[in-house]
Amino acid sequence: MTVIAGKHILLGVTGSIAAYKAADLASKLTQAGAQVEVILTAAGEKFITPLTFQSVTGRRAYTDNDLWGNEAHVLHISLGRSADVLVIAPCTADTLAKLAHGNADNLLTITALAATCPMLVAPAMDGGMLEHPATRENLEKLGGRGVMVIGPAEGHLASGLSGKGRMLEPDEILGHLRIILGRQGQLAGKKVVISAGGTMEPFDPVRVLTNRSSGKQGYALAQAALDAGAQVVLISAPTSIPPPVGTQIIKVETVEEMKNAVLSACRGSDVLIMAAAAADFRPKHSAQDKLKKRDGVPKVEFEAAPDILKEVAAIKIAKDRPGCVVGFAAESRDLLQNATEKMKSKQLDLMVANDISEKGSGFSADTNRVTLLFPDGKQEPLPLMQKSEVAEAVIKYIANLVG
Ligand code: CTP
Repeated sequence: MTVIAGKHILLGVTGSIAAYKAADLASKLTQAGAQVEVILTAAGEKFITPLTFQSVTGRRAYTDNDLWGNEAHVLHISLGRSADVLVIAPCTADTLAKLAHGNADNLLTITALAATCPMLVAPAMDGGMLEHPATRENLEKLGGRGVMVIGPAEGHLASGLSGKGRMLEPDEILGHLRIILGRQGQLAGKKVVISAGGTMEPFDPVRVLTNRSSGKQGYALAQAALDAGAQVVLISAPTSIPPPVGTQIIKVETVEEMKNAVLSACRGSDVLIMAAAAADFRPKHSAQDKLKKRDGVPKVEFEAAPDILKEVAAIKIAKDRPGCVVGFAAESRDLLQNATEKMKSKQLDLMVANDISEKGSGFSADTNRVTLLFPDGKQEPLPLMQKSEVAEAVIKYIANLVG
């Protein structure tokens, strides 16, 4: 997560049962390489101790005791000024009200007043407090001031009631933080369309023809593009992976649906990355009813499926065609030769070639080894890496091409 590594993140924790999840958030941020500084309010301390945060961040956590200590006259200024982002999670209705009105009666709210960085709040409250006109007004006020308010989500509440009030999960908060931190990235202002996963072609209402693509590489590319500040449209064949926070997700099943979604999303976009394993052949007909065993082994006739990248290359109107088109070539032999031919026939600006026969590379694995091919014949082999690292490397090349 290079977008988070080295960043200075100030985490405010207020008095809510969701405070235990803040420890997980602090841990995830620290593991991603951020320098996390925690400020607990007095009510926050009733739910979780500073020691918990110190243990996961390796840094001391601040409380209101520090407000009156030796460093008091500069602490809130230095904390507020040195942060890249201030996130308050969980944020109670009381702290929301203080922030909205500029009250500064504890270390967290004083620091919030002094902070010049972007602020993100993840509200958490119970039983209809969110719907109270006072809370709604406060949230509106903060939103209007540029504070990013995320959630709360709907579900089980501590009171036993069910409704809107649950703090977002740490992974979702992390996703929103990545958006804030990536805003000024190399792809800021660019629209990137990414396809992912293996299409499914039905031949009766129950059965489909598909492939081994997991969608992991495509989803990692979507996250890396978001980290670089892009607006991302993710056109996804069925997969169980949650889409990265901030993507516009378009779910498709068949190659025909994927083609239509890609061609429509390409209008006005800057980059298309076809990471999907779209079908090359599909059953010519799909039976209306389930094929029955008693009727014998069916004979399924295939027909050629549309080649999406070739259709993109054939677009005549320049504004409907992305300036940078990237393809993937998953090969089990003659990798570079096959990938080079595909790059030419599909008129690509960048081809990402991977040998699926290698262990730890290609379908379903968390790692991948790819070679980048450029139209001028240049080749760049990359080492075996996590798919997220491959994605970051590919996005970096794309950013150089379109930037
Ligand atoms: N692709 C596409 N439309 C298809 C099939 C593939 O746009 N119907 C794209 C893939 O998303 C990938 C690139 O074409 O970016 C190469 O896909 P690949 O399956 O490796 O090659 P094919 O052109 O399908 O050729 P073959 O399967 O014979 O290797």
